[in-house]
Amino acid sequence: MIEVELKAVWKKLGGRNVLRGMNLRVPRGQTTCIIGGSGTGKSVSLKHMVGLMQPDRGEVLIDGVDIGRFSERQLTPIRRKLGVLFQSGALINWINVFDNVALPLVELSKIKKKDIEQRVMDKLNMLGLGHASQLMPSEISGGMKKRVALARAIIWDPELILYDEPTSGLDPVIAATINRMIVDMHEKLGVTQVVVTHDMESAYTVGHTICMLYQGRVLQVGTPDEIRATENPYVRQFIEGNAEGPITGQGGGDLSKFYSDEGDDNGV
Ligand SMILES: Nc1ncnc2c1ncn2[C@@H]1O[C@H](COP(=O)(O)OP(=O)(O)OP(=O)(O)O)[C@@H](O)[C@H]1O
Ligand SMILES: [Mg+2]
Repeated sequence: MIEVELKAVWKKLGGRNVLRGMNLRVPRGQTTCIIGGSGTGKSVSLKHMVGLMQPDRGEVLIDGVDIGRFSERQLTPIRRKLGVLFQSGALINWINVFDNVALPLVELSKIKKKDIEQRVMDKLNMLGLGHASQLMPSEISGGMKKRVALARAIIWDPELILYDEPTSGLDPVIAATINRMIVDMHEKLGVTQVVVTHDMESAYTVGHTICMLYQGRVLQVGTPDEIRATENPYVRQFIEGNAEGPITGQGGGDLSKFYSDEGDDNGV
C-alpha cells in the first residue's frame, strides 16, 4: 500500500495563497480524515496528492518520491494505484452508469470485456446500484450519482483512495453504508485512505487520524479521541459547529500559537 506526504506545500490560486506551508502525513494502510471550513484548501490538497495540481513550493511525496513536478506520462503508473472520488462526482452525462464506472478500465487497460463486466457489476452491486447500470446520469438521484462515482473510484482496487465529501448530500442510512465501506476497505484490504469531510460523525467513525485544516495549514492532528477532547478554540468551534468563536469568515489575526506544526511562514 501507498504512503503520501505533503511537505511544506505552498500553492497560490486566484492571486491568493491557498496552501500555506501545509504539512500532512498519510500513513500506509490507515485512514486519515481532513476536516475544516469551506475554502480552507481541502480539495486543493487532494488535487496535489493525485498530481492534478503542482505545488509552487514544497514536496508531494508518494512512497517517498516527489511527484510535484511529474509529467502526465510519469503520473500514469501512479494514477493506476489511486482511486479518487471528486467532490463534484464528475460523471459523464452522455454515457450510462455502467459505462461511467467502466471508463477507467476501458481507457487504461487491456482487460477482456467479460472481466470488465464482472468487475463493474461487482462494484455496482456492492454499492446497491446493480439495478441502475443501464440508466443515464440524468435519470438517477444525487445520492446515486455519488455512489456511481464511488464505484468508479474503486474500480481498480486501488492502493490509495481519496474521497472528497463522500457522505455529503446522502440520506443517513446510505451515509452509514458508505462509512462502513470505508472502514471495510481498511479492515479487509488495508487500503490507505484520505477522507475529506464536514461530517464529524463520519470522521470519528472512519478516521484513525483527523487533521483540521485552517487557512491552508494543518491546525491540529490527532486521533478521534484527541480531537474530541481538543482545547484548541478553533478546532472546538469547528467540531461543535458553533456560530460563535474565533473562526471568522475573513480569517485574520495571529494564529501562530494555535498551529501544532512549525509550518513555514515564508512568503505569507
Ligand atoms: N483552480 C482554481 N483557481 C482559483 N482559485 C481556486 C482554484 N481552486 C481552488 N481555488 C480557491 O482555493 C480555495 C480553496 O479551495 P478548496 O476547493 O480547496 O476548498 P475546500 O476546503 O475544499 O472547501 P469546500 O469545503 O467548500 O469544498 C478557495 O478559495 C477556492 O476559491
Ligand atoms: Mg472541497
